[in-house]
Amino acid sequence: MIITTTSAEDTIKLGEKIAKRLKSGDIVALSGDLGAGKTTLVKGIAKGLGVKNYRYVNSPSFVLVKEYRGKIPLFHFDIYRLNNLKEIEDIGYEDYLARRGVVVIEWSSKMTRILPKRHLDIALKIKNSNERIISVKGI
Ligand SMILES: Nc1ncnc2c1ncn2[C@@H]1O[C@H](COP(=O)(O)OP(=O)(O)OP(=O)(O)O)[C@@H](O)[C@H]1O
Ligand SMILES: [Mg+2]
Repeated sequence: MIITTTSAEDTIKLGEKIAKRLKSGDIVALSGDLGAGKTTLVKGIAKGLGVKNYRYVNSPSFVLVKEYRGKIPLFHFDIYRLNNLKEIEDIGYEDYLARRGVVVIEWSSKMTRILPKRHLDIALKIKNSNERIISVKGI
């Protein structure tokens, strides 16, 4: 499925829709350049999962992962600053996968080797200042 969104709010709405189909144990892998809208989409996913302060979701670049409490918990990874796979193993990545919740990973291409095969693959592309082309593939 390929969708073009025309504003950040629009991308939040798309995230909300995607979240309605997610269940505990699901993994969402996000790719796209800086500013493509990955975190914006995660805000929408958080909203859809019932996270009240979804607007405060921001990139956990330095801590690598942040947890949000919703009807279904959200574990939001951003591994842009990851230097090696050991770092993500050290923060308990495997444990997060085993926990009740949805795992969303920004810059997932940096950990393809340890990403479970079964995941939702979302790629965001910048078309112009307000438009993003978003492809959603269930793997
Ligand atoms: N259609 C759109 N969808 C999403 N964001 C948009 C859109 N149009 C404009 N924007 C703007 O683009 C920026 C997207 O930033 P965001 O932090 O979500 O990107 P990101 O992919 O997470 O970047 P990073 O790689 O730095 O983490 C925001 O400033 C947002 O307002
Ligand atoms: Mg981000």
